[in-house]
Amino acid sequence: MSNNLLAGKVGIISGALDERSIAWKVALKAHEQGARFVLTNAPLAMRLGEINGLAEQCGATIIPADATSMEDLEKLFSGAQEQLGGKLDFVLHSIGMSNNIRKGKAYGDLNYEWFQKTIDVSAMSLHKMLAVAEKQDAFNEWGSVVALSYIAAQRAFLDYTDMTQAKAMLESIARSYGQRLGKLKKVRVNTLSQSPTKTSAGTGISGFDAFYDFADKMSPLGNAPAEACADFCIALFSDLTRYVTMQNLMHDGGFSTTGISQEMADLMVKANS
Ligand SMILES: NC(=O)c1ccc[n+]([C@@H]2O[C@H](COP(=O)([O-])OP(=O)(O)OC[C@H]3O[C@@H](n4cnc5c(N)ncnc54)[C@H](O)[C@@H]3O)[C@@H](O)[C@H]2O)c1
Repeated sequence: MSNNLLAGKVGIISGALDERSIAWKVALKAHEQGARFVLTNAPLAMRLGEINGLAEQCGATIIPADATSMEDLEKLFSGAQEQLGGKLDFVLHSIGMSNNIRKGKAYGDLNYEWFQKTIDVSAMSLHKMLAVAEKQDAFNEWGSVVALSYIAAQRAFLDYTDMTQAKAMLESIARSYGQRLGKLKKVRVNTLSQSPTKTSAGTGISGFDAFYDFADKMSPLGNAPAEACADFCIALFSDLTRYVTMQNLMHDGGFSTTGISQEMADLMVKANS
């Protein structure tokens, strides 16, 4: 159902790879709520081609950009403003990639070149995007930036390897840039810490099914699905959340503040009997 929460708003949505992507659901909901936007993803992801169908459905233009390349990002932000006919109201950063995770490297055996790449793609890219936007004066006042994070930024999850540090840095960049852009332009910057979600990035993590089930059993509301994550993004892009900034907002069905659930306790008792 549409409440036209984003009527008249324009923005950039990164990271829609396929139908399972969180960004895919954000794009569909942003379109439903009246927003116009540019879709972007790495040129490599473009080759898969699925994003073309989404763009058609949403009446969006695609501007490919490797989020680690300042040159690509400059073209993305200037191109988006040109396409959309003015400055931007929202940006979704939904980008993550770790070769160490892809190759199943243990935390004690990380490849450091890949580690640096993980940081560049998954965290520093947010700083680069915001620096480009600032230099181009690309935001309207009361704009909103949301980047997707995970609770491993605060708690140790060894299988999440170097993405753990990337997410901690991502959340830190959101705080620092939130302070800067808030003062400069009344733009808010937040991270949204999402439950484990069955997407291409999510299911690539070793032991994903186990920690998906664990989080689901620990959370009083169960794991938050991607559609609900998209709803939260829409709320954060809307004018209803104008004074929420520099926050890491948990969207996890209560996982992060639960000690132990009855379901987990019952399982432990059963395993020990
Ligand atoms: N799936 C989960 O369990 C989960 C949980 C919490 C947070 N997140 C975060 O949500 C975000 C979206 O992930 P998702 O789960 O929808 O998976 P996804 O695989 O659908 O999305 C990740 C996206 O990052 C893009 N990407 C990778 N390298 C890039 C680069 N150099 N430049 C531009 N784009 C690049 C990919 O092409 C892909 O579209 C990520 O930041 C992820 O860490 C996911």
